Amino acid sequence: TTVYVPRDSAAISVGADEVAVAVATSAAAAGREIRLVRNGSRGLLWLEPMIEVETARGRVAYGPVAPDEVDDLVSAGMLDGAETDHSLGLTEEHEWLRDQKRVTFARVGVIDPLSARDYEAHGGMTGLRNALKMEPDQVVAEVTDSGLRGRGGAGFPAGIKWKTVLGAQADVKFVCCNADEGDSGTFADRMLMEGDPFTLIEGMTIAAYATGATEGFVYVRSEYPDAVSTLRRAIEIAYAHNWLGGNVLGSGMKFDLDVRVGAGAYICGEETSMLESLEGKRGMVRAKPPIPALEGLFGRPTVVNNVLTLGSVPMILADGAAAYQGFGVGRSRGTQVFQLGGNVARGGIVEAPFGITLGELVNGYGGGTRTGRPIRAVQVGGPLGSYLPVEQFDLKMDYEEFAAAGAMVGHGGVVVFDDTVDMARMARFAMEFCAEESCGKCTPCRVGAVRGRETIDKIIAGTDVDENLVLLEDLCELMTDGSLCAMGGLTPMPVRSAVKHFPGDFNRSTPLPM
Ligand code: NAI
Ligand code: SF4
Repeated sequence: TTVYVPRDSAAISVGADEVAVAVATSAAAAGREIRLVRNGSRGLLWLEPMIEVETARGRVAYGPVAPDEVDDLVSAGMLDGAETDHSLGLTEEHEWLRDQKRVTFARVGVIDPLSARDYEAHGGMTGLRNALKMEPDQVVAEVTDSGLRGRGGAGFPAGIKWKTVLGAQADVKFVCCNADEGDSGTFADRMLMEGDPFTLIEGMTIAAYATGATEGFVYVRSEYPDAVSTLRRAIEIAYAHNWLGGNVLGSGMKFDLDVRVGAGAYICGEETSMLESLEGKRGMVRAKPPIPALEGLFGRPTVVNNVLTLGSVPMILADGAAAYQGFGVGRSRGTQVFQLGGNVARGGIVEAPFGITLGELVNGYGGGTRTGRPIRAVQVGGPLGSYLPVEQFDLKMDYEEFAAAGAMVGHGGVVVFDDTVDMARMARFAMEFCAEESCGKCTPCRVGAVRGRETIDKIIAGTDVDENLVLLEDLCELMTDGSLCAMGGLTPMPVRSAVKHFPGDFNRSTPLPM
């Protein structure tokens, strides 16, 4: 019998390691021989630690399971897939998973993340093998035709970026994966790196082949030690299988890959800052142009893509551009790996084609708030994204539709707040976050964020509210127009959306206690 217990750090944080030990001990005590696989998480995070047992009918799930419950579950027949406490039925038929479209996350939670054999048995390396039979410009064309856009947040067409790098002449070119997943409420990059690291490695190798790059780095935030160790191990295994190195899959292609760990700065998720950090310098934003595609790491042409962008590439090359392009709406093609968090009853990963509505995500999948109180606001797209009220739950997840509503899809994080949230405080938090994380290079952001926080403090205290609201709007306009990068440039987005949708919170007759 094969039994799966996730090794994903979200599962470990609620006891998955102890559950794994308990399963092994309990099975041995019952005289049962089992194969224990530490898989990634299926992304039903409120059910972790979730155990799955392989049966003739398919994989059967149990969760959430505490270590001291394992003995009873084994006695009740869990190892044979029996109906017991915490039974969730067949995993694939669970209502949370049934209607999702797992493309980028197709193997996450399914396979053993560090088994090369498992990876290939589930379609891994098909994309790279197909790519190697094509000319690099055909691979670029395939990615362009798929409609894949940058999943880090900006949504720039990946194929166009690759084309720029392919066309650039240089002694060496690089592929850098941005895994500095700093947005609050986002965890999809981490879960892919921990749950299916070979997909990222394969995607980066395809990017290298398509653009003529020979060296690559994954820049991972220091807060992700499990992802770092899983990736490092996966890279070793990939070298041992000739998936990386001087003769990739016997094709003669050369690609070397390594991991670099950040040091805890949000701004290092901005691509030029990340490149500075990779070069061993302090993470300060560079002015663009030149764009990294032309002058990136050490001044050489560099592909900089997010984990999810690169992680979507193997499937595109395996199944063809048309298959990926077939999902989505408008110019937002393919799927997005949405992440539900905050005050939500059911948090986790929902991979769905673009076009799913905010309400379907938050009320449908999320099941409303964890506190059971009414939802007041959701923030979409990280700490620099807009706060949206329930009246906007019909908005489709689509880069253009969100932009038209003064919001952004960003990296796909959705954070839920109930009716106890004070939106003036959330606006203050946006300015405070920017003041804390600003790299300090340009004045609108460095000084603007501090002044913004002070101004909101006055509003909260009830001092000259009307004048200070005008001043705040003025400041927001200046930061939006004058900041060098998205940090200062987008901080006004949550602030303005809070003022716009929740004006009552900014205009109190009685000041809030500080
Ligand atoms: P951007 O719009 O300046 O650039 C997008 C990408 O396209 C960059 O990689 C840029 O170098 C590239 N590019 C632009 N013109 C090009 C051309 N002609 N040829 C080739 N490449 C070209 O946006 P930026 O500043 O890189 O990102 C802002 C976004 O980052 C925001 O929308 C936000 O959603 C997101 N973000 C994500 C975070 C995360 O944790 N994932 C954290 C903070 C912000
Ligand atoms: Fe640095 Fe902020 Fe200016 Fe970006 S906007 S360059 S983070 S000071």
